Amino acid sequence: MRQDEIWNQDAAQRYDTPGTGMFAPDVLRPTVDFLAALAGDGPALEFAIGTGRVAVPLSERGVPVSGIELSRPMIEQLRAKADAATIPVTAGDMASATAPGTFALVYLVYNTISNLLTQREQVACFRNAARHLRPGGRFVIEVR
Ligand SMILES: C[S@@+](CC[C@H](N)C(=O)[O-])C[C@H]1O[C@@H](n2cnc3c(N)ncnc32)[C@H](O)[C@@H]1O
Repeated sequence: MRQDEIWNQDAAQRYDTPGTGMFAPDVLRPTVDFLAALAGDGPALEFAIGTGRVAVPLSERGVPVSGIELSRPMIEQLRAKADAATIPVTAGDMASATAPGTFALVYLVYNTISNLLTQREQVACFRNAARHLRPGGRFVIEVR
């Protein structure tokens, strides 16, 4: 199956589990603390931003956050929480899409690098992160 078939409307509507699982405060708080400390004044760019599980609380901390996301239904779920002025999202593939601007931090969490199924795509994703970073910026990947 293609990624846009997996992350369809049904998956997007079921994704958020406020307060539990990957949305539990003891999971999210350390993640957001870690990213906020690295981002400083930002801005930050989340690859595969999804429904904004991490981006929304990071933005609420005062870090400007943008995203790249392949799935339109996931972006629609994010839009129920944050508008495009607050968290701009570029629809596209994190291995190749370009978000406007340059960033202090690019991050890709929740094992999502593994959604790119070939080494060629994963290397392209690292190159794309580098293209978006300011000098001295950081690329964070979370893999279980
Ligand atoms: C496990 S979810 C993670 C979402 C969010 N980062 C989080 O931590 O909750 C995986 C996300 O990766 C997105 N995705 C998969 N392949 C992608 C690609 N090549 N480019 C951009 N987004 C992609 C999916 O649409 C889905 O929103």
